[in-house]
Amino acid sequence: DGEVYKYYADGEWKTSASGKSVSIINPTTRKPQFKVQACTQEEVNKVMEAAKVAQKLWARTPLWKRAELLHKAAAILKEHKSPIAECLVKEIAKPARDAVTEVVRSGDLVSYTAEEGVRVLGEGKFLVSDSFPGNERSKYCLSSKIPLGVVLAIPPFNYPVNLAVSKIAPALIAGNALVLKPPTQGAVAALHMIHCFHLAGFPKGLISAVTGKGSEIGDFLTMHPGVNCISFTGGDTGIAISKKAGMIPLQMELGGKDACIVLEDADLDLVAANIVKGGYSYRSILIFISCGNLEEVSTDFICWRLYSARFKFCLPFVHHSGQRCTAVKVVLIMDSIADVVIEKVKAKMAKLTVGPPEENCDITPVVTESSANFIEDLVMDAKEKGATFCQEYHREGNLIWPLLLDHVRPDMRIAWEEPFGPVLPVIRITNVEEGIHHCNASNFGLQGCIFTRDINKAIMISDAMETGTVQINSAPARGPDHFPFQGLKESGIGSQGITNSINMMTKIKSTVINLP
Ligand code: G3P
Repeated sequence: DGEVYKYYADGEWKTSASGKSVSIINPTTRKPQFKVQACTQEEVNKVMEAAKVAQKLWARTPLWKRAELLHKAAAILKEHKSPIAECLVKEIAKPARDAVTEVVRSGDLVSYTAEEGVRVLGEGKFLVSDSFPGNERSKYCLSSKIPLGVVLAIPPFNYPVNLAVSKIAPALIAGNALVLKPPTQGAVAALHMIHCFHLAGFPKGLISAVTGKGSEIGDFLTMHPGVNCISFTGGDTGIAISKKAGMIPLQMELGGKDACIVLEDADLDLVAANIVKGGYSYRSILIFISCGNLEEVSTDFICWRLYSARFKFCLPFVHHSGQRCTAVKVVLIMDSIADVVIEKVKAKMAKLTVGPPEENCDITPVVTESSANFIEDLVMDAKEKGATFCQEYHREGNLIWPLLLDHVRPDMRIAWEEPFGPVLPVIRITNVEEGIHHCNASNFGLQGCIFTRDINKAIMISDAMETGTVQINSAPARGPDHFPFQGLKESGIGSQGITNSINMMTKIKSTVINLP
């Protein structure tokens, strides 16, 4: 009580000279849960200087040693899964089991990045000059990947650990230093994750985590001359950052309005299961295989994240009351099958449990009161404009009961805006072109999905959809984490996924040997 979590700089946990702190409100109790330091600009400057110095040495540390330290951090992270998950429950109301999954997934991501890094970065290119017209074989070009310098990582509240390590691990394996600015909600979980890297023994100053008010250090960090790359995941703050940042590589994952296009020939049970899974949550589909033993099995949906035998377990996908950029955010369904599908979806929605994250409910409170108010505004706008409510709208504090809105029309805000909560609009269409048109008229272009048994049609629609990824017969999802992940239009800049992030955080350096 009253303790203010320290920030991490120069290999130590420190108290800010500001004497100020930032409160983290528990979304469930709506009372202050934790406090973190409000760092000053001067402290940010020191972190940047230390990062620059540490990076030079780190870049010369053999790649296999960098990988070894990341493997160590991954193992420590997994050992610390329970306390970190407890923070996620209290800071962002992530259901307890999903909070553990996030940490374990993060450990796997760090290990995979270390493995991938030694291969991707261990290879260079050799070119000879006489393949280009007019040249003799008189020049040999050797090129390899070098680090960018200092990478600034800004993850969002919905995955404060996983979307932090998806930036930290590629940055470090590639030889960069890393400065983390965690989201306020989720900051303590992120600091605990950083402690795992500290315990692994990374050099002083190479990794730091600064907390504080966006108004005080937000722009200061993103416009800091010491930053050589920004990897950001979040809302439209990313657009502002991209306008202000200097001439440095940016990796941005912003919002999404992921469309789910349903054709008449689709497997309607599969569609209903994926609408519920993608739009809201996922009900006790826990099948954990630990060291070969089947521990818990439920028969609802079948959607798996399978890991290699080395990890010895399987994890279900994580869903967080619609608070994912990859959640299904609009259903575009052929009118002729809409009634049947909606009935199936309603039946599944009725089984979703609603309540506190500690009880592993499927639907838990959304992250802040202002998020809940925003969602409510979208719902009320749809109500005024005549949407059909498939359930009654119900809210208690930040907890919003799952809601399906039918007969949504393009003049309603919810047809275009992302609620980032458990509310899903259905727009009925009479031909597939209407669906594609709605999807492409969005400012966003993250992911989308198509349900049909006709693979040729699916491919044609996928080609026509202006999104970074299209899933055929499944709800959108970022993972597995080594898949490329990118958004078009206002959904982002660049591509993520482990290999793409490693490449993005490097630059090509060439040395040309000129033969006599
Ligand atoms: O909301 C951010 C995003 O990256 C979602 O990830 O794994 O839930 O598809 P995931």
